[in-house]
Amino acid sequence: MRVSYEHTGINESELVEYKNKVSKYHIQLENRTGKGSEFLGWISYNSEVDKSIYKGIKDIAAEITSNADALLVIGIGGSYLGARAVIEALTDSFNDVGNSGVRVYFAGQNLSGTYLKELLEFVKNKEIYVNVISKSGTTTEPAIAFRMIKQLMEDKYGDEAKNRIIATTDGEKGALLDLAKKEGYRTFVIPDDIGGRYSVFTPVGLLPISAAGIDIDELLLGVEAAHNEYSNAELMENEAYKYAVIRNILLKKGKDIEILVNYEPKMVYIAEWFKQLFGESEGKNYKGIYPSSALFSTDLHSMGQYIQDGQRKLFETVIQFDKLPQDMNIPTDPADLDGLNYLTEMTMNEVNKKAFQGTLLAHESGNVPNIVLNIDSLDTIHIGKLLYFFMKTCAMSGYLLEVNPFDQPGVESYKKNMFALLGKKGYEELKKELENKINE
Ligand code: PA5
Repeated sequence: MRVSYEHTGINESELVEYKNKVSKYHIQLENRTGKGSEFLGWISYNSEVDKSIYKGIKDIAAEITSNADALLVIGIGGSYLGARAVIEALTDSFNDVGNSGVRVYFAGQNLSGTYLKELLEFVKNKEIYVNVISKSGTTTEPAIAFRMIKQLMEDKYGDEAKNRIIATTDGEKGALLDLAKKEGYRTFVIPDDIGGRYSVFTPVGLLPISAAGIDIDELLLGVEAAHNEYSNAELMENEAYKYAVIRNILLKKGKDIEILVNYEPKMVYIAEWFKQLFGESEGKNYKGIYPSSALFSTDLHSMGQYIQDGQRKLFETVIQFDKLPQDMNIPTDPADLDGLNYLTEMTMNEVNKKAFQGTLLAHESGNVPNIVLNIDSLDTIHIGKLLYFFMKTCAMSGYLLEVNPFDQPGVESYKKNMFALLGKKGYEELKKELENKINE
């Protein structure tokens, strides 16, 4: 991974000014003494964890692959996006069976009756396994979805259903743990000191990823490489810290919206995961960069106008791969009626690269700073590395903003209102107040 900032207008001396600050926050992260330090378990989870857990995950994944053609993964936010991001990035976009694993479908990430009804209709005649994931064990969206999916499993498999449901949750407490114990489900533990959005490399992400046929040993090699590389205290030798500092400098220059740009459709859910990671970590105390995303060149035909010419509050972080899983030559057509024969010496990926280079220069001249994340290859090891890179950047970035990057107090507000309006016990006063507002 190389973070290039030649197209941001920032020079090295601006970066170097952050050297001492970065080294102070680096020590706080490594020694777990800074804000939210009780949630820093993710930094070294994969180097410290008892490796037999990976064997347990791979064994169950193999069992799922041989006994099922659909794995329903139930979860939301940090208990959903990491698995989806990695699976979509590393499996075939169209082939029904991802990398010789099982096809993974997601539920409990919304409250749409239409979505769930259509999903259950679609899978009802397939052989199914379920992985229900919730750290708190009480989140409404996955809990509702699980109630219905549990019913489907029991109707379909009777007593056997309990062997096809795996719960990933807190090791000590919570409604999902109680239910799992009562029903006899197999369980995986979400460590206490790892918050949802930092949990992709725990069983939360690893079980669905492994079941989808992705080699988790390889993924974790990338995590280990990133753990070593981004533990360097030296700002100018640590690409994750560099990226954090560049973002911070741009924010101070009034660029408070970041667009994570991809040129590969497989990366769309990585961008969704990125938005949760940075949005939930930095957006507090009226601070933070608003994280957004775009898929180019698709979105150049929709959002391109705004990016080039709209309000100048934006910067872009562009992900560029040197090597991609597939490519195609552009064929010659003797008639050349579409006028494309000038491209026949090129492959699709080369055309895409020219789109990237042209767009970068156009946006830069439109006063949109561009950071480029150069990655060797879109493959398992580099995806592991990339996600860890983002987590380390995010932790440093939050500290530079002087916020706690590991809590999410703001998420509670909507839940309180929703519970009150739904008539949950204990919310009677708030219910009256909200209903009065609605009927005003
Ligand atoms: O990052 C987070 O903490 C959140 O996105 C949670 O993961 C999300 O709200 C789901 O919570 P839980 O796993 O407790 O169901």
